[in-house]
Amino acid sequence: MVISGCDYLGLSEDPVIRQAWLEACAEGPLQTGASRATTGDHPAYRRAEAAIAEFLGEPAALLTATGYLASLAVGQGLRDRATHLVVDAGAHACVQDGVRLSGLPVTVFTSGDPRALKSALGRLPKSARPLVATDGVHGIRGGMAPLKAYLDALPASGWLWVDDAHGIGAVGPTGRGAAEALGVHDDRLIRSVTFSKALAVAGGAVIGPALIVEHLRTRAGVYLGSSAPPLAMAAAVTAALARVDRLPGRVRRLQALLRRFSGALPDRPEILNDPRTPVTAIHPRDADQARRLGEALSAAGFVPPWIQYPGGPAGGFFRIALRADHSAGIVDRLARAVRLGLGV
Ligand SMILES: Cc1ncc(COP(=O)(O)O)c(C=O)c1O
Repeated sequence: MVISGCDYLGLSEDPVIRQAWLEACAEGPLQTGASRATTGDHPAYRRAEAAIAEFLGEPAALLTATGYLASLAVGQGLRDRATHLVVDAGAHACVQDGVRLSGLPVTVFTSGDPRALKSALGRLPKSARPLVATDGVHGIRGGMAPLKAYLDALPASGWLWVDDAHGIGAVGPTGRGAAEALGVHDDRLIRSVTFSKALAVAGGAVIGPALIVEHLRTRAGVYLGSSAPPLAMAAAVTAALARVDRLPGRVRRLQALLRRFSGALPDRPEILNDPRTPVTAIHPRDADQARRLGEALSAAGFVPPWIQYPGGPAGGFFRIALRADHSAGIVDRLARAVRLGLGV
């Protein structure tokens, strides 16, 4: 059994979302053949954007072909709005690339440390309009960024950009992501997301204040100079968002499994686990421990989720991701295998 990946709600075989893809392919043009800024716009994109904004309770959203491109759009689009980028050292590669694309001065602060952020912000000129960038849910080590404390540190003239690729659909009482889980509402919040993980489709979006989103439409090269994504993708995104709300039991079930798994794991420095997020990382202390854990997982019927990924330990690590359609028995067996593999 596979216990990795990002299909957190188990929607990748969902018949309703599949039907939306198929109907969009059968009925309309496959794509519009141009950038949306020229002749490539279509009501299906605007419907998806309205659904995304409504899902996250924000004024506006800009749809992109992937989540990675959503982050690049933020960097490109806000370079004439912000004056400085201040980035969490642990942010995903797409955030780091978006930050670089802005061409603005960049400061890096220690991941997850609001005091480090405050001190980085304190070194900027008084007139600065900083854009602080972070992941909401960390996709390779689990856990969430302390968004409230980051916002407290931010001046009124700044923005907090949260890449919530691993939060949307999976985290928070109704799957609205890290901001919902942490009770954060703020006009300075800009989010980028992907629909390729819990939403099980593809595509990405930037969500936030209407002025910011409309600004991106006129400034972000990845939106202006790139052909619009397939129409079926937009239709499927709209359907997938509705599906999350039609199946609220999925989000609740995932979260109950996360708590169960977390409660059954030993308290060990090798294990990075936050019961609010679907990702658990295990960083073996040496090759021998990695081998023993891999063997224990295999013997229990799991494909050892050993990965190497930018931002993770150079040699690799185990990245476990639970899904809403796992049974409680599977989760218990998994926790037992982890304990056995670590010798506790
Ligand atoms: C935190 C994070 N942001 C963005 C992305 C990119 O999303 P997409 O796969 O839709 O390009 C990923 C990974 O795929 C990710 O882990």
